[in-house]
Amino acid sequence: MNTPISISIQTTPDLLDTGSIPTPSYSASERTQLRDRIKQLLKDRDAVLVAHYYVDSEIQDLAEETGGTVADSLEMARFGSNHAASTLVVAGVRFMGETAKILNPEKTVIMPTLQAECSLDISAPIDTFSRFCDQNPDRTIVVYANTSAAVKARADWVVTSSNAIAIVEHLHEQGQKIIWGPDKHLGQYIQQETGADMLIWDGACVVHEAFKAETLENLRANYPDAAVLVHPESPMGVVAQADVVGSTSRLIKAVTELPNKQFIVATDNGIFHKMKKMAGDKQLIEAPTAGVGATCESCAHCPWMAMNSLNNLVSTLESMNNEITIDETIRQKALEPLTRMMSFGQGPEGAKKH
Ligand code: 13P
Ligand code: SF4
Repeated sequence: MNTPISISIQTTPDLLDTGSIPTPSYSASERTQLRDRIKQLLKDRDAVLVAHYYVDSEIQDLAEETGGTVADSLEMARFGSNHAASTLVVAGVRFMGETAKILNPEKTVIMPTLQAECSLDISAPIDTFSRFCDQNPDRTIVVYANTSAAVKARADWVVTSSNAIAIVEHLHEQGQKIIWGPDKHLGQYIQQETGADMLIWDGACVVHEAFKAETLENLRANYPDAAVLVHPESPMGVVAQADVVGSTSRLIKAVTELPNKQFIVATDNGIFHKMKKMAGDKQLIEAPTAGVGATCESCAHCPWMAMNSLNNLVSTLESMNNEITIDETIRQKALEPLTRMMSFGQGPEGAKKH
């Protein structure tokens, strides 16, 4: 196997400083009013709600009740592209809104907040990432979807957690050497699974990086029959203990398909809403983010996903503010690796069937 070479990156600002917007709690009547208003506005604006599994459960439910979707990042991109609505309302983090806009320039793409970042996106500023690519011109540049439009524009391929292994495997079979960014944990996992020659950027997800291998081992001892489900943005010591490693939708599928009655889940706890809906009879246990001796168990919730609320969703639909705009030259360049990903495994233009 090739040894990954990590590089140091510039110190980023305090990644958890999101302006500490608390998740609002609503009275039953406020909630009904907000929900009714959002439903009406979606119709009035010819808009469809595209939500990620980590956002507020109220928003997830609304997306499904109104003909939108709650999905992983790849499915969100596909859904937005295939839907006829002229406006896409993306409830998630900024790279998800940007991906929607890159793929659908003719549509209006708005988000409940434009402040919802992602620590992976922040960890790969275009200038330093681009310099890294320039220093390794013989390598194919593969970037995770959790990146800015400018970083995508610099890449040969974009991947998500749903297709990263298959795409890198395909490139490795062709003898290509790879630059991977920005998630070092996902990069190490892909490298382990594919044996590809990868230079790996030093980024991480603040939520998944917090899962602890040692306390997970202790928890597993208490639940010997539980299956362990892990998102591959987690550290390798956590991934190594998994029965299933995969994207958010893969983990939800595992809860419904595996015969186990108990599941230990290492990903953002927003996903529990969908898991409970799909498999209410199963016991779901949060994987620990605290070290040995700590009193709390888990606090795995993305601070930026948590910035999406019914309140800012209503405001955005009323004002049609928070629109995603992307420089057209960057958009066209970013469209190339994204289109390559979207058509991978999809027929004659696809690079490979899986
Ligand atoms: P998925 O593509 O698996 O939904 O992951 C997106 C993400 O940001 C996970 O932290
Ligand atoms: Fe980014 Fe992690 Fe939040 Fe996903 S959970 S959006 S990878 S910070």
